[in-house]
Amino acid sequence: MTDNSRLIVALDLKVPDKAMELAREIHREIFAIKINWPLLMVAGVGIIRELSSYGRVICDLKIADIPNTNSLITSNVKENGGWGIITHAFTGSDSLAAVIEAAGEMKVFAVVSMSHPGSDQFINSVSMDLLEMAMKEKISGVIAPGNDLVMLRRIRNAGKGLMILSPGIGVQGGNPADAIRNGSDYVIAGRSIYNSEDPLGEVRRINSAVSSVIHRS
Ligand code: XMP
Repeated sequence: MTDNSRLIVALDLKVPDKAMELAREIHREIFAIKINWPLLMVAGVGIIRELSSYGRVICDLKIADIPNTNSLITSNVKENGGWGIITHAFTGSDSLAAVIEAAGEMKVFAVVSMSHPGSDQFINSVSMDLLEMAMKEKISGVIAPGNDLVMLRRIRNAGKGLMILSPGIGVQGGNPADAIRNGSDYVIAGRSIYNSEDPLGEVRRINSAVSSVIHRS
């Protein structure tokens, strides 16, 4: 994997061999791989270590439980070689602190706003409170929507110094260059890459769109 890329690829495939094959094809040109329940449920926790042979793996488990359970889930990811983990923040500071403590050196990213329309129903009204609480707990970074640039800018402005990862790119309508221009550090794309006829070509297209923004600023 490379620090020159600002792209995190979501491998939401239910066939582990296909996920490994795609990782093999694209890993040299991306920043990290993100996995989620669709792959983890089929492949088992060992897939984290297998994919880690290609570099950084972020486990998007959107943890939302009591502190003890959060801690057990996080330690499973850590013991299997995860580089990062995504947790919900709405469960409160004790639950969040348990993830951060169990994570040790692993990066922890908290969800403070989401990329789907339903985020407007509940989460978006407390996004700034979630962000403030996450910062008090010394979070590594947050997840903020790459397809809602107003919200993304609000989170960027209030979350100085935080790493911001943005899904909502591609199929959900977000544009990678716009997301970076509006405060995102890394964009997350899944379907637009793994459903593409030419995944590596799509990775390169996103990398080049993003690097033109970075080099201009
Ligand atoms: P697509 O196919 O839409 O995949 O490019 C996006 C990936 O990111 C996850 N996702 C989110 N994760 N907060 C998160 O923590 C969000 O707002 C969010 N939106 C999408 C999604 O599950 C998939 O893995």
